Amino acid sequence: VSAPGVIWGVGLGPGDPELMSVRAWRLVSQARRVAYFRKRGHPGQARRIVEGLLAPEATEIPLEYPVTTEIPVEDDAYGDALRAFYAESVERLLAAAGEGDVVVLCEGDPFFYGSFMHLHERLAGRAAVRVVPGITGMSACWTATGAPFCWGDDVTIVLMGTLPEATLAARMRAGDAVAVMKLGRNLPKVRRALAEAGLADRAWYVERGSAADQRVMRLADKTDDAAPYFSIVLVHGRGRRP
Ligand SMILES: C[S@@+](CC[C@H](N)C(=O)[O-])C[C@H]1O[C@@H](n2cnc3c(N)ncnc32)[C@H](O)[C@@H]1O
Repeated sequence: VSAPGVIWGVGLGPGDPELMSVRAWRLVSQARRVAYFRKRGHPGQARRIVEGLLAPEATEIPLEYPVTTEIPVEDDAYGDALRAFYAESVERLLAAAGEGDVVVLCEGDPFFYGSFMHLHERLAGRAAVRVVPGITGMSACWTATGAPFCWGDDVTIVLMGTLPEATLAARMRAGDAVAVMKLGRNLPKVRRALAEAGLADRAWYVERGSAADQRVMRLADKTDDAAPYFSIVLVHGRGRRP
């Protein structure tokens, strides 16, 4: 381990700042070096959650994705661009950790499909890394529906809308409670897969769960296919209960 400072991956929860853990709140408000991912030209969801909480003297280290949805994930150029970006981000974090602890802001839980995982893997053996868990986005979203999500022996399946339609439908059939993340332009495909799995009439749609502009509705009542990145489809389980 080379850097003297600890690199913290801090889960901030799903959007409402009050859903941050006490530890996350303490680390973020006391941090002198704060890093976060964002898309170029956008503030970044994690940074937005801590608005007003950072110390005035904190140094911010924005890590800007070179690509997001401009190149298909299967394209070699996508992988190459991201590998180079993560490698460079790691060097920036290590340089900052040379000065002391660094807090990396993570939306939701860092180890639940979080970008921080790509840094964590590359930092192994090069710096002390510690992770603070957070409430996941999907947890805020099922809470927003006002109904419990999984019961008794229910098998809960978490899927990405980026998967092929046939895979989505097959995996949906294998689950009792189903969450589908990364909707965006995949929503029409997710709707077709739900219909194939016989779940279309039970699906809910939640946008920006727990944030001030949260939206919740039955998917069948959603008349368009516009879905932002922070949106999810949920099918509640109907498992055993006394
Ligand atoms: C790369 S994953 C990151 C998950 C995050 N680490 C977590 O613990 O929730 C991003 C996906 O999570 C879902 N998501 C995360 N937070 C959300 C929120 N507040 N409302 C709706 N969807 C959310 C969306 O489906 C989004 O495409």
